[in-house]
Amino acid sequence: MVRSFPRGFLWGSATAAHQIEGGNWNSDWWEWEHKPGSPCVEPSGDACDFLHRYDDDIALLAAMGHNAFRFSIEWARVEPEEGEFSEAALGYYGRVIDACERHGITPIVTLHHFTSPRWFAQRGGWEREDSPRMFGRYAARVARTLGARMPWVGTLNEPNIVARIGWLTPNFPPGKRDRELRRTVDANFIAAHAAALEALKSGPGAPKVGLSLSMADYQPLEGGAERLERIRHQMQDIYLDAAREDASDWIGVQTYTRAVVGPEGEQRPPRDAELTQMGYEFYPQALGATAREAHTRTGKPVLVTENGIGTEDDERRVAYLDGALSGLHEEIEHGLPCLGYLYWSALDNFEWNSGYRPKFGLISVDRRSFARLPKPSAAFYSEIIRRNGLA
Ligand code: BGC
Repeated sequence: MVRSFPRGFLWGSATAAHQIEGGNWNSDWWEWEHKPGSPCVEPSGDACDFLHRYDDDIALLAAMGHNAFRFSIEWARVEPEEGEFSEAALGYYGRVIDACERHGITPIVTLHHFTSPRWFAQRGGWEREDSPRMFGRYAARVARTLGARMPWVGTLNEPNIVARIGWLTPNFPPGKRDRELRRTVDANFIAAHAAALEALKSGPGAPKVGLSLSMADYQPLEGGAERLERIRHQMQDIYLDAAREDASDWIGVQTYTRAVVGPEGEQRPPRDAELTQMGYEFYPQALGATAREAHTRTGKPVLVTENGIGTEDDERRVAYLDGALSGLHEEIEHGLPCLGYLYWSALDNFEWNSGYRPKFGLISVDRRSFARLPKPSAAFYSEIIRRNGLA
């Protein structure tokens, strides 16, 4: 299918430090993976060894026709102890940006993708009132060294998911079940985004700054509208409303499926639904709807910072990509300002509690040799990019 996306559209894929770098032992997640009774099926270990293989990986993505690459800077490496910053770690991320530049790829940098330094978690993490200030200080330090070389920066990745899963379900660190604390953490995340935004905007360069949210296509069943409003309020609207008022340049949309809500709450997918490896309903149409919602509620252009599918069946990835991009394209045709699309994920990587079982990658990674092998879906995606005049 030939579609035309806007000129200058960012085409690429997304990753996160902890999921691909390997050896992220100074983070709260490493501790979480290793604690007795951890819900993680396996530890992250060497991940994809991106730490040493970033140059080849970025070259491969460029050869696939991508013009953008999203990765995250690991706070636990940059600030290994409170107030102590590592020039070497900042130097490393500078070299990742060099590699992007060398291969003609626009770097899209996230400052926080789920993981925090151990010292930060030990002193109370996101529950503490001064957590936004701590995060702002880290953001300012990154901005000072790399700000002029980061055209696009996302402050936080899915703080709404971290608050829910860390303080409600409780499957992410710190593994609590406390509604009140969850609300506190949500508020601290909003303030942390504001602190980082301020730090980035007053640093060197002119980074375009945004916040990435986990978004579901919320659909009510009969009698479910009120419940839906309540869930969506805490999950999305408080963040979107804050973004509407602040100086951020874009809103990051990360969508995987829909959420059907009845009077009793969120429903399981229908019995006959096709499920992905994550147990989500195969529902690529969710992307267009959520991108539209994010724009309508914030008034900002959207950047799809994540969208993808965990599956062993690469043909379903092709179908998912096709469906999601069709829906997004339709919204763009109807006037949605959309800056780009970043498929989750470049590589098969560490999927948090689920370990290495779910396969989200366009590229597979051999768990022993770390050899990379692009899948047919990678070629399908390259073809879409090529038809849009980029590759
Ligand atoms: C996260 C990623 C994760 C992906 C797939 C998003 O919630 O940002 O880190 O791997 O979903 O589950």
